[in-house]
Amino acid sequence: MAQESGWQVSGDAPSFYMRYAYAMQEPWTEDLILQARCKDSDRVLDVACGPGLVAGKVNQVSQTNCKITGIDVNEVMLNAARRTRPDIDWYLGSATELPFDDGSFDVVFCQQGLQYFPDRAKGMREMHRVLAPGGRLALNVWGPLERQPFDVIYREGLGAFFGPEALNPSTLGMSLNTYGELHKLALDAGFTGIKVRFENRTARYPDIREFLVGWTQASPNAAQFRTFSEDMRVRFVSYLIERLDSFTDDAGLVIPRENHFLAADR
Ligand SMILES: C[S@@+](CC[C@H](N)C(=O)[O-])C[C@H]1O[C@@H](n2cnc3c(N)ncnc32)[C@H](O)[C@@H]1O
Repeated sequence: MAQESGWQVSGDAPSFYMRYAYAMQEPWTEDLILQARCKDSDRVLDVACGPGLVAGKVNQVSQTNCKITGIDVNEVMLNAARRTRPDIDWYLGSATELPFDDGSFDVVFCQQGLQYFPDRAKGMREMHRVLAPGGRLALNVWGPLERQPFDVIYREGLGAFFGPEALNPSTLGMSLNTYGELHKLALDAGFTGIKVRFENRTARYPDIREFLVGWTQASPNAAQFRTFSEDMRVRFVSYLIERLDSFTDDAGLVIPRENHFLAADR
């Protein structure tokens, strides 16, 4: 199913993802969940759920008892989700062909997923279709690369040590972000009450060396990283540490990120 997405991990990447990428996603997740105003008994779908960060937090954050379902195209991500939260219904499938009846959900979430779908307009139409009238959509996508200074430097390291193809996942990850694109996707899919909101926050990692190794192993470039000799790994990490000097303070690595939120009604 890898052709269904430009961002796919394999092997034990989900466990690194939960350790290192969650720290990047998590500060925004509560915000995303609260935006959907979940109520007890709502039927909630987390599209492109990965290992289930959003799905796993909905009831705790909104202090509700919702019925939660997650779907992702990647089996290893879903296996991690199943292990962590066996109480949630997990589905393997594509966001562009959701295996659910019309109007099956009251709330749809999609955290850092839409930008990777092979057909974003179709993904939005599917999220609209499976929502019941009055249902709510809450999603987010990263802001543009030129406003993500850590990622600009990290990609220099990827280009130098992994080659140009290694840039594709992050290029795609930050490729959907203008107000106009997001608003139009939602409007064309039939959503109303569309609100787009840009936010900035800081992620922190106490140990820069550990983070750079973990972050790389959490990504679609993990398999290539595993083929590197120990010497090449050390050179890659040292190359980045030198260039990230201005992003370190007494508490370690500081990563500013811009994230774009979209909320809409069915
Ligand atoms: C960056 S991860 C985000 C995961 C999760 N939402 C989170 O907040 O941690 C992107 C996820 O989108 C999934 N994905 C990409 N294309 C997809 C598609 N067409 N259908 C379903 N999931 C997809 C990937 O498999 C991956 O798990």
